[in-house]
Amino acid sequence: MEEISLCIMTRELCQELYRDWQNDPAIYMDMDKFEPYQYNEAVVDRYFISKQSPSRVLFAIMKGSTPIGELQLKQIDWECKECTLSIHLQNDAVKGHGYGTAAEKLALKYAFDTLGMNAVNADTVIKNTRSQHVLEKVGFKYIEEKGGFKYYRFVR
Ligand SMILES: CC(C)(COP(=O)(O)OP(=O)(O)OC[C@H]1O[C@@H](n2cnc3c(N)ncnc32)[C@H](O)[C@@H]1OP(=O)(O)O)[C@@H](O)C(=O)NCCC(=O)NCCS
Repeated sequence: MEEISLCIMTRELCQELYRDWQNDPAIYMDMDKFEPYQYNEAVVDRYFISKQSPSRVLFAIMKGSTPIGELQLKQIDWECKECTLSIHLQNDAVKGHGYGTAAEKLALKYAFDTLGMNAVNADTVIKNTRSQHVLEKVGFKYIEEKGGFKYYRFVR
């Protein structure tokens, strides 16, 4: 497997990533809300700007020099030293090759070693068994099911 790294997202990487983006039905609780993704440069720029915040780190998941996904450490609570991980790979071509697992491991290391977090949370819609499997594989513990979501937590 080609090496995966995390890189702080830039406007340019965000544009490159979203040019070939596909929304994944697995993350929709209500499939009436699912729509195939349509690239629009201005919308991506607005999205990128909207994610810049002291309570969030937005990463591009890189395969070599190519962005293949997005990973966020968000809802960073600097006092409680907790945050929430979310991840979405670019499209089906890059899923199922171990890249998501590798990226989550790197994100946990970054959260604990670089951000000084004590715990990382994650949640998935109930039907998203692939994401649940990967979270458990990298060491998240299942906490509870509530409001259509399964909640996970990794405590250092
Ligand atoms: C979830 C996601 C990040 C996982 O990354 P990935 O690179 O596709 O996953 P990996 O190849 O690292 O690992 C997939 C694992 O899930 C298993 N798997 C695949 N489909 C599965 C399913 N339907 N149910 C349970 N496990 C499944 C694979 O066998 C593999 O496990 P193994 O290594 O023990 O054999 C990626 O698929 C993705 O971006 N999906 C769309 C967005 C999403 O669901 N994000 C999470 C929101 S909470």
